[in-house]
Formats: sequence, C-alpha cells, structure tokens
Amino acid sequence: MITDTFEATFSAIIRPAHEGDLVALEWFGQFTHDRAIIEHTYLQQQRDEALILVAEVQGFPSGQVWLDLTRKRDTSIGIIWAFRVIDCLQGLGIGARLIAAAEAVFVARGFATSELEVDVENTRARNLYSRLGYTPARVQSGPYLALCKSLIAADVGPEGSRPPSDSGAPCATPRYAPTFA
Ligand SMILES: CC(C)(COP(=O)(O)OP(=O)(O)OC[C@H]1O[C@@H](n2cnc3c(N)ncnc32)[C@H](O)[C@@H]1OP(=O)(O)O)[C@@H](O)C(=O)NCCC(=O)NCCS
Repeated sequence: MITDTFEATFSAIIRPAHEGDLVALEWFGQFTHDRAIIEHTYLQQQRDEALILVAEVQGFPSGQVWLDLTRKRDTSIGIIWAFRVIDCLQGLGIGARLIAAAEAVFVARGFATSELEVDVENTRARNLYSRLGYTPARVQSGPYLALCKSLIAADVGPEGSRPPSDSGAPCATPRYAPTFA
C-alpha cells in the first residue's frame, strides 16, 4: 500500500576528503575491508601524491573518486580509481560531476591525460565513460579495459571527440611538455 509519494531535491558539494570522512567512506560496512587502503590513500593525499574527492550530500560523502597523482606523472597521466556513488543516489548525475571535478584537478596540475580502468563487463560505467569522452588507451588484456581522455583542448574535435591518432596509443604520449600549476 502506497501512503504517499513526493519529490525531494538535494544539493551536493564536491570537495577533497578530510580526516572526519574516513570512517564514513567505508559506507556503513560496505568498504570496511578497504579501511587500510582508505587510510593509506588519505596519507598520500596529505603528501600531495593522491586526492580523494567526495560528493557530500546531506553531510555524507555519498560519492567518491580517488586520483593517483604520482604513478604516471612522468608521462603526464593522472589516474582515476575507486570511483563510486552510493547505490540509492546513482543515476542522478553525481558520477559525471565527480569525473568532471577529477579532470579539472588534473588540468590545474598540468596533466595532459586522464586514465582509468574498467571491468569489461561493467556496461553502465563503460557507457558513462564513453559519454564523457573516454576511449580505449591500449589493446585490452585481461578483464580490465584501460580508457583515457586527452585533457589538452587542441586534441578535442568539434563534437568533443579526439581526432584520429596514428600512434595506436592515442592518450599515452602528450604532444608537448606539460606545464605545471
Ligand atoms: C559508475 C557510477 C560511479 C556512476 O555514478 P552515477 O552517479 O550513477 O553516474 P551518473 O548519474 O552521472 O550517470 C550514470 C547514468 O545515469 C544517467 N543519469 C544522469 N543523470 C540522470 C538523472 N538526472 N536521472 C536519471 N539518470 C541520469 C546517465 O545518463 C548515465 O547513464 P549511462 O550509464 O547510460 O551513461 C555508479 O554507477 C557506481 O557507483 N557504480 C558501482 C561502482 C562502479 O562500477 N564504479 C566504476 C568502476 S570503473
């Protein structure tokens, strides 16, 4: 029996995680097994080697995306990982905003490319990445597909897609030396 239906709006803030988020980032036990890696990545954030961005909704970090700022720094590639939105708030645009915020951080820090990996069977995430302009970074091997997106404005064609590359690894090599913010 339905007793009421109504619509509600919410506002979200995307910001770096702070120490008070660490337990909440476990999402009520869903990621408690990752406590050590959450703490480790937060320590890396304090050393400016990583960044955890959260989408705070009603005071709770309901979405998160982690940025690796060091692993591929020498090839000007920023890495996105641990990207997730809490189940009941998926499909509302939070994920796309988190990726946009991640890319903005990479651009501000002089990265030429954003890169991530996705399970080949994760159709929903793959669709989202495709819509946001990510294309295969290299030939797939194993269950994960590496995707990348050039963050250099000149690489983006009129419809938001990159022009064809003859390198076979379109995002792997920046066309010119990056500038650092
Ligand atoms: C992948 C994930 C992070 C995306 O987050 P999200 O907040 O649901 O993403 P968005 O809402 O921005 O976009 C997702 C879809 O919702 C749709 N959408 C966007 N705004 C919407 C709205 N206002 N109403 C309804 N649907 C909407 C988008 O069109 C998109 O559809 P698509 O998948 O066909 O492209 C989320 O689904 C998730 O946490 N999945 C589990 C973990 C995971 O797979 N992570 C990725 C690992 S690589």
